[in-house]
Amino acid sequence: MKALLCTRYGGPDDLEIQNLPDPRPGPGEALVRVKAAALNFFDTLIIAGKYQYKPQMPFSPSAELAGVVEAVGDGVTGVRPGDRVAAYVGSGAARDMIAVDSGRLVKIPDGLDFDRAAGVCVTYGTTLHALKDRASIKPGEILAVLGASGGVGIAAVELGKIMGARVIACASSDDKLAFARKHGADETINYATDDLKEALRRVTGGKGADVIYDPVGGPYAEPALRSIAWKGRFLVVGFAAGEIPKIPLNLALLKGCDIVGVFWGSFIERDPAGHRANTEQLLEWCAQGKLSAHVHAVYPLAEAAAALKAIAARQVMGKVILHP
Ligand SMILES: NC(=O)c1ccc[n+]([C@@H]2O[C@H](COP(=O)([O-])OP(=O)(O)OC[C@H]3O[C@@H](n4cnc5c(N)ncnc54)[C@H](OP(=O)(O)O)[C@@H]3O)[C@@H](O)[C@H]2O)c1
Repeated sequence: MKALLCTRYGGPDDLEIQNLPDPRPGPGEALVRVKAAALNFFDTLIIAGKYQYKPQMPFSPSAELAGVVEAVGDGVTGVRPGDRVAAYVGSGAARDMIAVDSGRLVKIPDGLDFDRAAGVCVTYGTTLHALKDRASIKPGEILAVLGASGGVGIAAVELGKIMGARVIACASSDDKLAFARKHGADETINYATDDLKEALRRVTGGKGADVIYDPVGGPYAEPALRSIAWKGRFLVVGFAAGEIPKIPLNLALLKGCDIVGVFWGSFIERDPAGHRANTEQLLEWCAQGKLSAHVHAVYPLAEAAAALKAIAARQVMGKVILHP
């Protein structure tokens, strides 16, 4: 089988496609033929050795997939050959076939295609955990989403609307903001041309956002926090801008707000049943058309470098999918 491999830390052009023996499912595992593997921003970091999670070399990038069960190992009862399944696997999905702990597999509902199913687990899973478990967002609250057209960003726009929030999408271009509005955002702020702190105050009538969802960090986190509402929750999701902001703690005091960490990877290890229930719910919402699971582009495995470069160049809206 073909596999995209990271054999040494580097950039997208350092990845190689190699032929490997077909994997065999061990006890408790299922062999899945990968139909679609999704990329996330963190794949650009993992292949460079700059992410907190460092898989053993050589490894395939891509943390999530959709495919068909080909065979099952001893003791597997939850899935059988022919089932359409999706899974979060941490890394290793960018290949023809993968042996996966069958407990990680969730069946894909009818009516949801492989490309959209592949990209649901991480972005929507992170965001459901963030808004529901970490921010306890309530209907009628104001949610500001930074990087609102990216993978987790657009998930926050859509899930914010499902949870009854008024959503302010913030992004770096008018095209990205139009995309966020199409996906449900009530208001938009272009933080490349507008002052983020002032604009957030303006569109909230001076009150500020109750919940701020920040997957970007860099120069945007502090101005956003300075406009948060009393008793607001600032969700620390990621640092796509590269720089981890250093926040003056007096802001938390003055605003009476919470700065709340979101670590989905740890959440799913600690609460696998909660993760499974969330994933089933999210796939169902996608099948029903309540969530878009928008696919920005599909690349063949051989063009994975171009796919990763597009993510790093801030060009992507929604998800990027690889086809083995
Ligand atoms: N905490 C968790 O559990 C968790 C889970 C999943 C992902 N994450 C993190 O969330 C962040 C976003 O992930 P994603 O997969 O949604 O990424 P993505 O699709 O690439 O979106 C990232 C967004 O960040 C903005 N951005 C600003 N500066 C950027 C830069 N220098 N390079 C790239 N993007 C930049 C872009 O929007 P604008 O151009 O509009 O600014 C872009 O749309 C990453 O840091 C990731 O590691 C965290």
